[in-house]
Amino acid sequence: MSRLIEVTELALRDAHQSLLATRMAMEDMVPVCEDLDNAGYWSLECWGGATYDACIRFLNEDPWERLRKFRKLLPKSRLQMLLRGQNLLGYRHYEDEVVERFVDKSAENGMDVFRVFDALNDLRNLQTSIKAVRKTGKHAQGTICYTTSPVHTIPAFVEMAQKLKDMGCDSICIKDMAGLLKPQPAYDLVKGIKEKCGKDTLVHVHAHATTGVTLVSLVKAIEAGCDIVDTAVSSLSLGPGHNPTESLIELLEGTPYHTRLDMERILRVKRHFTTIRPRYREFLSDIVGVETEIFKSQIPGGMISNMESQLKGQGAGDRLQEVLLEVPNVRQDAGFPPLVTPSSQIVGSQAVFNILMGKYKVLTGEFADLMLGYYGSTLGEKNPDVLKRAAEHAKKPVITSRPADLLKPEWEHLRESANALEGANGTDEDVLTFAMFPQVAPKFFKARADGPKNLGKDPAKKVAASEAKSPAAGGAKPLEGSVSYVITLNGKEHQVSVAPGK
Ligand code: CO
Repeated sequence: MSRLIEVTELALRDAHQSLLATRMAMEDMVPVCEDLDNAGYWSLECWGGATYDACIRFLNEDPWERLRKFRKLLPKSRLQMLLRGQNLLGYRHYEDEVVERFVDKSAENGMDVFRVFDALNDLRNLQTSIKAVRKTGKHAQGTICYTTSPVHTIPAFVEMAQKLKDMGCDSICIKDMAGLLKPQPAYDLVKGIKEKCGKDTLVHVHAHATTGVTLVSLVKAIEAGCDIVDTAVSSLSLGPGHNPTESLIELLEGTPYHTRLDMERILRVKRHFTTIRPRYREFLSDIVGVETEIFKSQIPGGMISNMESQLKGQGAGDRLQEVLLEVPNVRQDAGFPPLVTPSSQIVGSQAVFNILMGKYKVLTGEFADLMLGYYGSTLGEKNPDVLKRAAEHAKKPVITSRPADLLKPEWEHLRESANALEGANGTDEDVLTFAMFPQVAPKFFKARADGPKNLGKDPAKKVAASEAKSPAAGGAKPLEGSVSYVITLNGKEHQVSVAPGK
């Protein structure tokens, strides 16, 4: 008898976050919603991760409005989001009430499946959000960030899965953000979880395609009993993104497994993104093929380009190789944290400092906090000398409690500050936007009424716009039946309208 394998489609969130720097405009996703809604997916990931930040920072789009639109356009589907535990979608820990209110509002606006993770795999950083999701009656998915190190053994991960189950999670996700999950460990891990937590425990595997091995890992995970896998439609797949949905459907032919996906509809989605993707070429990731050196350095693709620009800024662009070799050392000193936002940036920046200034001569504040337990605990032991250095540098003690226990109630204060801003609409949603992005929110609230921007450029029309130059540039009113673009000439932005035959 053939077993049904369920699939989550990533095109609307992680796929364009990984391949197009999260810049996809809502209007470029709207045309595929009907096909996605009817194609037979287990869920559609469409919110959270970096999309919230990108919406307010680059796209002048209200992320809550985006969620409500998806809810309306995808009435039959489970909507899924990625949530960074106690960090929500921001970059610090929030006090529990803020976390609870965020989860409530997300559920109320249409979210169904909350994939909750912590960069350090410290489960105390997940407990408030998972409890809050359960209270709303929505699906709480507990996440294991997959990484490799001497302490990250299969039994250690399996134990973590059991703890997530004990916390009340409805399913367990194995999240492989850098393509490190090889086929055999994928098999062993899924098998281990099924044996320990029970056959009926839903296991969901998320893997990036970066290293070229993970399509096979998905198959091995399926053979071990995995219930749901993540893929992205082919025209938004591979590179630092994910394995292609159509390939998964095809390769299961002749095996004891099948999906319930409608290939006709998926091919329509594919064709749509084939035309859309080139418009975002200025945001395309540098990695287009396969990168296996990640197995050694553990450095996700996005982080390498960050470090490169950091080094170039210091006039040390030629020292990248040294830094890449230093990253695993810093990671070991910090107790082997998985490298994912924000630990990847923290470890990466410290490695840059170590190479440029001398080993631990200068510590970033964030790295000191990581060493001292302010982000949570790590599975491995920390280097005692570096720990001492961090305590001296930060003039703070080591903490072993849950980091959010140190925080005082902050909701009322956040609400007052948010509501005082020009353009704030007085909703809890706006308060949450301000809470997570206090630097960006004021500018966004003020400009929100201008409506969303589409940073994708129609290739043909872009040439025409460049030729139009100064006469059409500046504050010219859009012409009847025209399309307006913002183009950059000699570093200056110009608004340009292009109309047929003009
Ligand atoms: Co991902």
